[in-house]
Amino acid sequence: MRTLVTGGAGFIGAHVVDLLRQRGDDVVIVDDLVTGLAERVPGIVIHEMDIADTASVAPLTELLRAERIDSVIHFAARKQVFESMQRPAWYVQQNLGSLANLLLAMEGAGVRRLVFSSSASVYGTTEGEAIVESDPTVPVNPYGETKLVGEHLVAAAGAAWGLRGVSLRYFNVAGAASSLLGDRAVLNLVPMVFERLDAGESPLVFGGDYPTPDGSCVRDYVHVSDLADAHLATLDDLEQRADGWHDVYNVGTGTGTSVLEIARIVREVTGIEIAPELRPRRAGDPAIVVASAAKIERELGWRARRDITEIIASAWNAHRANSGEHAV
Ligand code: WQD
Repeated sequence: MRTLVTGGAGFIGAHVVDLLRQRGDDVVIVDDLVTGLAERVPGIVIHEMDIADTASVAPLTELLRAERIDSVIHFAARKQVFESMQRPAWYVQQNLGSLANLLLAMEGAGVRRLVFSSSASVYGTTEGEAIVESDPTVPVNPYGETKLVGEHLVAAAGAAWGLRGVSLRYFNVAGAASSLLGDRAVLNLVPMVFERLDAGESPLVFGGDYPTPDGSCVRDYVHVSDLADAHLATLDDLEQRADGWHDVYNVGTGTGTSVLEIARIVREVTGIEIAPELRPRRAGDPAIVVASAAKIERELGWRARRDITEIIASAWNAHRANSGEHAV
């Protein structure tokens, strides 16, 4: 199998590239290296290309042909919710422009299999029950809008020219494989807690009065290596599917963890005494976001194998290795 991975030098992309290579697949990476890091994928050629630019369609088509690509996994995108609220039009250009250009190139080169990185943010405000794929999709920020329209575009390409597509809706991704760098985007909870510890500060808890067991927000944290496994399962499944097929799957564990529980596990894993500091709620945060992971288990045989302690321990090891210290 010969797979093109856009955004292959990013946090999640590099974990998928690593697994593909371990099983002997050929991998070609396209990345603009704005947030991606070449050091994440040593020894693999990176075609440095901004695929949000329409001028990239011709060289991308040529690359797909020349490399005899069978399948594409499309990670390349911007992913900061707050930034998307400040620069909505730019998010459309970046996330939907790149997908549109990729689809044009795939159609031109006759490449018919695509795994698209979507997000739980397509659901918008959630009610606290485990979220199933058929729940309403009403995104509450431009980032989520780009992911939802992206899913629609992938489905439309199936109807128009026979693309076989899958959109994977990621929940809260964290952790790191032992050999790879962790998430350098420090705006998510786990890396933010580590940043605070490095600075000798206590982690912040945004809101202690939510209708949850301990008052702090509950999320479904999935290990990036489990998420990477889900991509391989999806890619293999696409081989059996008919042209024109499209489906969506949640990728989560089905288990929720609160911010205060995370703080407790960080204390256990690091051995650092921390007293979380309670702050007001952060605007726009739903109380509980937990996936039902039943559909992907039933249809693709995938389920998460790593729990929240392993997620945090692996993230901490990667963080310490990144900052040049000794890993635990
Ligand atoms: C998790 C929880 C915070 C930092 C976002 C996007 C989502 C997806 C993942 C891309 C929340 C709380 C955080 C801190 C805290 N992105 N928190 N103290 O908001 O669940 O999801 O990132 O696809 O679409 O919306 O993730 O990691 O920012 O926050 O208490 O210092 O931790 O309030 O409840 P979130 P997060």
